Amino acid sequence: MSNVKTLPSWRALTQHGVMAQANHDEVARLNVLTHLNLHLSSRVIPGLRQVYEKHVHPAFVKDHGREPETRHEVRKVMMEDGYCQLWSALRRNTMEMRHQTGRAMVLRQAGVLSNKVEQLNKGCDTLQLDPKIEVPANINQVDIHCQPGCYYQEYFDQDVTVAASYDVGLFVTTAGLLGALSDGGGQAIANWLKTEHPNFKPKRILDLGCTVGHNAVPLAQAFPDAEVIAIDVATPCLRYAHARAKSLGVDNIRFVQANAESLPQYADESFDLITSAMFWHEASHQMLPKALKTVQRLLKPEGLTIHLEQPQYHGKSVFEQFMRDWDTYYNNEPYWGPMHDLDLAEQLDKAGFDGSAMFEIGVVAKVDEKIFGKSAAGDSGEDYGRAPVWNAFGIWKNKQ
Ligand SMILES: C[S@@+](CC[C@H](N)C(=O)[O-])C[C@H]1O[C@@H](n2cnc3c(N)ncnc32)[C@H](O)[C@@H]1O
Repeated sequence: MSNVKTLPSWRALTQHGVMAQANHDEVARLNVLTHLNLHLSSRVIPGLRQVYEKHVHPAFVKDHGREPETRHEVRKVMMEDGYCQLWSALRRNTMEMRHQTGRAMVLRQAGVLSNKVEQLNKGCDTLQLDPKIEVPANINQVDIHCQPGCYYQEYFDQDVTVAASYDVGLFVTTAGLLGALSDGGGQAIANWLKTEHPNFKPKRILDLGCTVGHNAVPLAQAFPDAEVIAIDVATPCLRYAHARAKSLGVDNIRFVQANAESLPQYADESFDLITSAMFWHEASHQMLPKALKTVQRLLKPEGLTIHLEQPQYHGKSVFEQFMRDWDTYYNNEPYWGPMHDLDLAEQLDKAGFDGSAMFEIGVVAKVDEKIFGKSAAGDSGEDYGRAPVWNAFGIWKNKQ
């Protein structure tokens, strides 16, 4: 990595009021994993295409007398290749080690974190927990992306460890591209709205599956006069998210425990803007249509719903689909592939929108100088430290 200017360091993350504290060895571990992920994505992944084009694809065509037709056929032959196995095992291991490091780090300060969270949340009516909300089937089958305890497990009263561990470890997987507050996606949506739709000033915003509020907070900051309602089913995440937002001085978010499938507590046409970030790939085929119908019901006429999500597979080569589908098989993301196979316009149609009006865009977040240094912003020489573009789909409701 001769011309690397700044490798991202976990130390550059903003230490908000409920962030777990890392000691020297923990930072070193998180950084090694982050840099290994960078190495895999920038140096090892290009080799996979070569392996496919030079060896695996020709062998498949020779054996079958035809091109591979699906990503599943590509997966079966690629996963027999040693280079591919090595990449896959390393990728899986960085994920498992991210969680192990994060868990160990937050467990040794679990009590301190719970106390900080409780202090910040004390007496606030902007945290609305509801013990009657059950963990839905779409996330109670496996620990999603190998995260022990998934999003919702509580090991003791007032536990926030799964949320704190998620906050600490996301940097490893995204290699700093989400910025010092892991909020690059929400920032990118806010930037896009301000640039492309400067007259759109939502008064009421709903964020679905907010987790620890990474992407609800920048929207609340971009629209300080708006009331933001951020919902999730996971108690520890909501507790932590509320305290985190408070510690960042953000007061216009109400964190509510609710299932996105129905949300009966909210009136029809009561939100101007409904968002989500990386939510739909965790939705099952049963849950997704119900939640989209709810979005349609809750959105005001001329309101906007927009969602950050990995791009759909449709139109991509079977090799690219195979690469994108890795999470379905090796990262405990059972709905990832099935969701990315859907025709979203058709789903929106079924939910009561005019699906033909759906748009897909790339929204851009700034390179965070806190992480990549000043020189990175205009640097085109490396695969990272460049302005990340996040895929999003959306639709305006009944807009002429
Ligand atoms: C990948 S995370 C989303 C990340 C988050 N939006 C952010 O900005 O960082 C998915 C979240 O959706 C939540 N979730 C899953 N199914 C849900 C449902 N049916 N209703 C509400 N929240 C749900 C999970 O608890 C989890 O916190």
